[in-house]
Amino acid sequence: MVTLMPVKFFVDKVTDDLYILRVDDAEVAYFEALWEIAEGVTYNAYLLVGDDGCILFDSWKARYADQLAETIRRVIDPRDITHIVIHHMEQDHSGALPEILRIADFRPEVLAHPMACQMLGSFYRVNAKVRPVHDEEELNVVGRRLRFIYAPWLHWPETITTYYADHGVLLSGDVFGGFSSPDKIFDDDEEVVEKYLPHVRKYFASVIGTYRQHVNKAVQKMAGLDIRVIAPAHGLVWRKDPRRVVNYYDALANGSQERGKVTIICASMYGECLHAARIVMNELKKRGANVKIYEFTDTSRPSISDLLGDVFNSEAIVVAAPTYESDVFPIARWIIEIVQKKIPSSKSVLVISSYGWGEQAGKKLAEMLRAAGHDIKDLLLFRGRPDSETEEKLREAANKLLSDG
Ligand SMILES: Cc1cc2nc3c(=O)[nH]c(=O)nc-3n(C[C@H](O)[C@H](O)[C@H](O)COP(=O)(O)O)c2cc1C
Repeated sequence: MVTLMPVKFFVDKVTDDLYILRVDDAEVAYFEALWEIAEGVTYNAYLLVGDDGCILFDSWKARYADQLAETIRRVIDPRDITHIVIHHMEQDHSGALPEILRIADFRPEVLAHPMACQMLGSFYRVNAKVRPVHDEEELNVVGRRLRFIYAPWLHWPETITTYYADHGVLLSGDVFGGFSSPDKIFDDDEEVVEKYLPHVRKYFASVIGTYRQHVNKAVQKMAGLDIRVIAPAHGLVWRKDPRRVVNYYDALANGSQERGKVTIICASMYGECLHAARIVMNELKKRGANVKIYEFTDTSRPSISDLLGDVFNSEAIVVAAPTYESDVFPIARWIIEIVQKKIPSSKSVLVISSYGWGEQAGKKLAEMLRAAGHDIKDLLLFRGRPDSETEEKLREAANKLLSDG
């Protein structure tokens, strides 16, 4: 028997003429086939009903094309769509476009970055009418004032945003988005926002992290706009306090850290590195540190995207992993390669490594993290299980790790 998950989709008014069309993807387990998201994700498209036509901004994943068509029909006849704006070609937002173009009789003109205009044909083999827009171009479309603002690398090179000037709405695409399917559409409820923000950090770390400097540039570029609503392509719509998500993103991009937060990344085949990592953890906890530990062992395989979310704003990280075939234990190597790219530098680091006959892993891990701009406070290497002298060194290293140490 095949059990189909019920699909939740919503329509709500953002302004008197702009609708959010949101689907909650509860089927996705790994965003981009990579990032574990037990909390799910939403795809937000928007529909602007103008004087002499309608504009669809983005769409949903291809899997939900029929539901998007049905949702659009709740508001308008799809043949009334005169324009489609593509902010970002990634298939979680563009996948349903062929179906929408089909039910709109291929009449809509597609407005997008020149690169996205080219990609559309190659991604979907459709012959749509395309009109490339340039950075800061202002257009009057269906009687509404739109300004297209490029946001390169947020999250691909072809990414744009739209400022809907009549109502001060920034349709921001991926930027200012987050994981999870919040209980509400808007940021009106503080409890919902508090619960949501860690999913924003996790999304930022795993999806935007590599391009974080472009967030600062985008925020500067948008500083002069009177933004009253931020309408991203994932997660909550910010109408109560749009500055809050802008400041949150800006702070993450600047590498702001939570003082006293330490994330321990521990990979351990037979428990030797784990034994050492737990000594460090207990010592840090005694000092009142906020410690998160991720244990990759023969019985547990935690979420790497949760780990990235925690590492992102940690003051310090502890990496514990053994030597494996004269190299770093593979899972640890992979995680640290991701950390090198996606995580802001200048964290205090303690590297711990157990080995049987060669010390390569610990030394390589320290080199990798130093090369990424982190501050290696200590490197502790030991054969097999740490002896009492090494245990004492582990406690000392834990006490030196934080800024008040
Ligand atoms: C498959 C495998 C490969 C290993 N390769 C090496 C190696 O190349 N060099 C080395 O010094 N030790 C090697 N070891 C030994 C481990 O590094 C050592 O047992 C260590 O104490 C394991 O720590 P852990 O329990 O935290 O994983 C290997 C162990 C295994 C199981």
